[in-house]
Amino acid sequence: MRKNIVAGNWKMNKNLQEGVALASELKDKVQNPNCDVIICTPFIHLASVAELLKGSKVYVGAEDCSEHDSGAFTGEVSASMVRSTGAEYCIIGHSERRQYHKEGYEMLRTKVLKALENGLKPIFCVGEVKEEREQGIQNKVVEAQIKESLFNLTPEQFSQVVVAYEPVWAIGTGLTATPDQAEEIHAFIRSLIAGKYGKEMAENTSILYGGSCKPSNAKELFAKADIDGGLIGGAALKADDFCGIINAF
Ligand code: 13P
Repeated sequence: MRKNIVAGNWKMNKNLQEGVALASELKDKVQNPNCDVIICTPFIHLASVAELLKGSKVYVGAEDCSEHDSGAFTGEVSASMVRSTGAEYCIIGHSERRQYHKEGYEMLRTKVLKALENGLKPIFCVGEVKEEREQGIQNKVVEAQIKESLFNLTPEQFSQVVVAYEPVWAIGTGLTATPDQAEEIHAFIRSLIAGKYGKEMAENTSILYGGSCKPSNAKELFAKADIDGGLIGGAALKADDFCGIINAF
């Protein structure tokens, strides 16, 4: 059966010392979680945080990786470099990367492959913007994002992928999708996976919700049949809030 997961996405927050302090607080506080716990940090934190959390209940991931293997790509960080820090996960296709860095279907398809080739589990983000939700085309948008960047994978590769549904209008806005709205699209995503890879794969894939998830609404969201946890932004920056969400399981 699929795993329940609470993953933090620190985004561009915390310097090295602050990041190590937060990781260390989490190491102490997360002792017997009823779900897998992951923190995805800026590249500069990875090596220190992965070392600190070795053998603990908290896994580590990056927020992105390059689509290239190596070479003259100033400022980029490859999947193999990420893996060499001890990190095991990598967020790919976050809406902020799609929006501010123009990452499209094809680039994301390559990034997913690079992550997998280097032993990283992709946390692949999908989600519609406000206008698309208003037009009622959220399913179409999410279907294209998934088909175009993930459905080239072999079943073995796909089995390593975690999907995160993050409606862009709910990210950092305080607006949360209602549990019913989120469940509807999570069930739709699972049906797409079943159509491509079969029911068993669909049942085994973790699908996380992201967008203003906090301790006060996590329980209600996670109670839904197809919501297997959360990808948490703002509330992942404080150990008590993040633990409050973990404890919703
Ligand atoms: P917030 O939880 O701050 O809305 O961010 C969600 C997110 O983008 C996680 O990747």
